[in-house]
Amino acid sequence: MGRCPDCGQWGSLLEERVRAQERGEATPGPAVSRATPTPIAALQVAEVGRLRTGLAELDRVLGGGIVPGSLILVGGAPGIGKSTLLLQASIRVASAAGAVLYVSAEESLEQIGSRAARLGGVSDRLLLLAETSVQGIAEQAERIRPSILIIDSIQTIATEELESPPGSLSQVREAAARLMALAKARQIGTLLIGHITKDGSLAGPKALEHLVDAVVIMEGDAHQLYRLLRTTKNRFGPSPDIGVLEMTEAGLAEVADPSAVFVSERPSGLPGSIVVPTLEGSRPLLVEIQALVAPPGAPVPRRVVNGVDGNRAALLLAVLERRVGLALSTRDVYINVVGGVRIGETAADLGVAAAMVSSARDVVLRPGLTLFGEVGLAGEVRAVPMAERRLQEAARLGFSRCLLPARNLEQVRAPGGSLGLVGLRTLDDLVREIGEGSVA
Ligand code: TYD
Ligand code: MG
Repeated sequence: MGRCPDCGQWGSLLEERVRAQERGEATPGPAVSRATPTPIAALQVAEVGRLRTGLAELDRVLGGGIVPGSLILVGGAPGIGKSTLLLQASIRVASAAGAVLYVSAEESLEQIGSRAARLGGVSDRLLLLAETSVQGIAEQAERIRPSILIIDSIQTIATEELESPPGSLSQVREAAARLMALAKARQIGTLLIGHITKDGSLAGPKALEHLVDAVVIMEGDAHQLYRLLRTTKNRFGPSPDIGVLEMTEAGLAEVADPSAVFVSERPSGLPGSIVVPTLEGSRPLLVEIQALVAPPGAPVPRRVVNGVDGNRAALLLAVLERRVGLALSTRDVYINVVGGVRIGETAADLGVAAAMVSSARDVVLRPGLTLFGEVGLAGEVRAVPMAERRLQEAARLGFSRCLLPARNLEQVRAPGGSLGLVGLRTLDDLVREIGEGSVA
C-alpha cells in the first residue's frame, strides 16, 4: 500500500519480512529453554581488556579503548572526518595489535589506499574490502578474524535477506543486528560509521542507538579546524567524555590542551567576548562565547545562534530584556561559540548573557574574567554541578576573576593561584560586575 490506511500518510509503510519459522507453521523445534535468575554475587566480573587504537582522544572517549566484541557507532555529518579518523585508528591498530578489516562501500579501494599511504600506513595487516553485502562481510571476517572491523558506512551495506534498499530503516537495523551477532560471537571490536543528517539526528542510525554498545558523535564544522568527539552512550565506559582533534594536512591530530588553544585565539580589547569553563562529562573545557548586538538590518530583527541551543538563547534574550532592561528586541543578535564547539549545558547561560550585555553596552570585559552559572526566568543565578572542576581549569589557565552562582560559592574550596571568586545572585549582580570590570 502506498498510503497508510490508519494515518493517511503516503510512503510511510515499511516492509518487514517474516521468517518461515516465525509464521507459526514452524517445524516442531527443540523444547524452549527458559532463563532462570542468577544471584549477582555469583557472577564473574572480569575487568575487560581494551584494545588501544593509539589515537589518545578516541581511546579517551571510548573509556580507554575498544572492548573486544563491542559494537560502536561513529556518527557525524558527511565530510566531517569519520573515515579519516577510523582509517588512522586502523593504521595504528594494524601496526601494533593485529589485523584490521576495513570495509568501504563508499569510496574506491584506490582512494582509501592512497589516503592511507598519505596518513603513513601501509601494513599487510590492514585489509581493505569493497563489499556491500553483510553476508559477504561476515564471510571475510570469519576467515580473517580481525581484531577490529570497520564498516564505512552502515547506510551503504545491506543484508541479502531484505529487498529494501541500503540505508532504509529495516536494512540499517538488520545489518547492524547481524554485525552485532558477529562481533559478539568472534570477539571482534566493530565500528560502524553512520552519517548524520543536517538537523543533527542520526536518521537511520538513530534506530541503532539502543542496539550498539557505544555511540561516538563527531562534531564541528567541516570548514573549520577542530573536531569534537563526544560519547553519548557507552556501556563499557565510566561517564560521557569529550575528545578534541584538529584536522591537518596529515589527518587528524590530537589537541592535548584544548582549553589553552581555544583561549589563546581570543581577540583582546573587544566587547562581546567571554570565556566560560564548560564541562563535557568529566572534562572541563574553556571555550569562548561571542555575541554581537547590532542595529537591525531588517524590520524583523535577526537572531543567529551557533553553538548554544536556540531556545535557550531566546530565553536569555527575554530575561535580559525584562529583568535588566537591556533593549534587545529591536536589535539584531548574533551568538557564536568559537571553534565549532556546541555547548549543551545551562552553566553557559551566564556566559551568553555576559557576552550580550558586553556587546549591547559596548563594554570590554576584563581579559582575566571568566564566569559560569545557570539563569532562571526571574533573572536569578542558579547553581550548577561540578563548580570546583571549572574553577580549577580557569585557575590553571591563569584567569584572575571568576563570577559564579552564590550557592556554588558557599560550597566550593577555592583553587590555588590568584583566582578571585565572586558570588552572583541575580543578573543585576552580573551587570554591576561587568560595569566594574570594563576598561572601556
Ligand atoms: P572524511 O574522513 O572523508 O569525512 P567523512 O568520512 O566523515 O565523510 O574527511 C573529509 C575531509 O577531511 C575532506 O574534505 C578532506 C579533509 N582531510 C584533511 O583535511 N586532511 C587529511 O589528511 C584528510 C585525510 C582529510
Ligand atoms: Mg567517509
